[in-house]
Amino acid sequence: MTIPYPSNQTLPAFGTVTPPSGGPKPRLAFHGTGYLGATYAVCFAELGYEVVGLDPDAEKIARLGAGEVPFHEAGLPELLRRNLAAGRLRFTTDLDEVAAFGDVHFICVGTPQRADGMSADLSYVEASVTGLAKRLTRKALIVGKSTVPVGTAEWVEQLVERHADPDLGVEVAWSPEFLQEGFAVEDVLRPNRVVLGVKSEWANAMLYAAHKGVFDLAATEDREVPVVVTDFATAELVKVAANAFLATKISFINAMAEVCEVAGGDVTQLARAIGYDPRIGNRFLQAGVGFGGGCLPKDIRAFQARAQELGAGEALRFLHEVDLINLRRRSRVLQLAAELLDRRVGPAGPELSGTKIAVLGATFKPNSDDVRDAPSLAVAVALHKAGADVRVYDPQGMENARRAQPELTYEKTLSEAVTDADLVCVLTEWADFRNADPQAIGELVAGRLVIDGRNCLDPALWTQAGWTYRGMGRP
Ligand SMILES: NC(=O)c1ccc[n+]([C@@H]2O[C@H](COP(=O)([O-])OP(=O)(O)OC[C@H]3O[C@@H](n4cnc5c(N)ncnc54)[C@H](O)[C@@H]3O)[C@@H](O)[C@H]2O)c1
Repeated sequence: MTIPYPSNQTLPAFGTVTPPSGGPKPRLAFHGTGYLGATYAVCFAELGYEVVGLDPDAEKIARLGAGEVPFHEAGLPELLRRNLAAGRLRFTTDLDEVAAFGDVHFICVGTPQRADGMSADLSYVEASVTGLAKRLTRKALIVGKSTVPVGTAEWVEQLVERHADPDLGVEVAWSPEFLQEGFAVEDVLRPNRVVLGVKSEWANAMLYAAHKGVFDLAATEDREVPVVVTDFATAELVKVAANAFLATKISFINAMAEVCEVAGGDVTQLARAIGYDPRIGNRFLQAGVGFGGGCLPKDIRAFQARAQELGAGEALRFLHEVDLINLRRRSRVLQLAAELLDRRVGPAGPELSGTKIAVLGATFKPNSDDVRDAPSLAVAVALHKAGADVRVYDPQGMENARRAQPELTYEKTLSEAVTDADLVCVLTEWADFRNADPQAIGELVAGRLVIDGRNCLDPALWTQAGWTYRGMGRP
């Protein structure tokens, strides 16, 4: 099948498809209002669409409906309130209502790592699609946005065939998502590309209509949004391949950090020097405690598991190494802590009882409250298990961190966390920590020892203020 879709947005015909609801623009439904779905629902209302967000979590829906974003994402609360007030956006737990409303249904539910292995748990996708398919009463397009193993879109199509009325002609498409928490509003309104996995001209045209707001905004700003139209398998693979590449880049520089540590080199200078080569580039080349979050770790594991099932396990064996390098960086912080605090490292790791350690950062990156698989929190737990009295502070992630790791002690401010600490570990590169005054912090601590797990502090400044400084991969 040829799909005459744009590599830019200069195509006329696609905007003119009539949505099944009969309106001028397709009505959009977002199933799952977590980090991905809520951001999309709000931003697409901002682009002028009529939007509904659905989630079985009644508390989340009540908060969104009341104009409160249940997570930290800069710029989103203002857009949420504006679009609720404009009447274009609403949130519900009622799937019947959503099935009756939507022309295009975006599936944005979670696909976490399964408890019994590395593969993705598709039970939320299954429940979401099955529930929707059974309730549809007219033609609609179901578009997967969740990150999934290759082959999922075909399986979703089979679920739809099994559960939807065949006379309706319900179709499936896949459009993976690349937004970054902390930049999510910008990434959704101004994506650097749109990838569409489609099987029919109708699905293609509906997806174009559903993204026309994005293309129109780009046109007013004299930009173009590249669009890649492809088959289901490629669309699914684009997302996991992109995450595998990013994870590999981070682990590559962290592997160089390991070598620098034994050879006496400085990985920050090495990264700068290689990053000037445009073929390499310097983004995602910061050595530190490694990657985490709700995506990269589980996505590279699920990718390996799926490749194994398909008989291509060898091709992705390097991702196992990428994962191991990443996890070794967390242990490195413990080693450095033991070294700085002059503690013994036994076969079970360092013995840190009687020490007080401030951990600055609980989220997996700054400008987010997401603590899923956060290296900072994992290190805090490991320090606690090693016997240290750990005091955690994070500008936005405290509530989530407390829920995830209730055994740790949380302090309300940076000052309270560092007071009387024998060692300070900076594990998330929040601006508050980067810009902290080492002299002022020095007045509060018991010992001027700092581990810079993100290489985000100025070693000269901290050393001048009397601190013993240790970075990652630095002399
Ligand atoms: N967070 C990101 O930055 C990001 C970026 C790109 C892709 N993704 C992918 O998007 C997907 C969602 O990620 P997230 O971070 O938003 O997860 P999340 O856990 O924050 O949100 C998932 C939401 O789905 C809801 N849900 C569960 N079952 C449902 C059902 N049957 N119907 C409707 N809603 C249901 C949950 O209650 C929850 O609110 C994942 O596959 C993830 O890998 C996430």
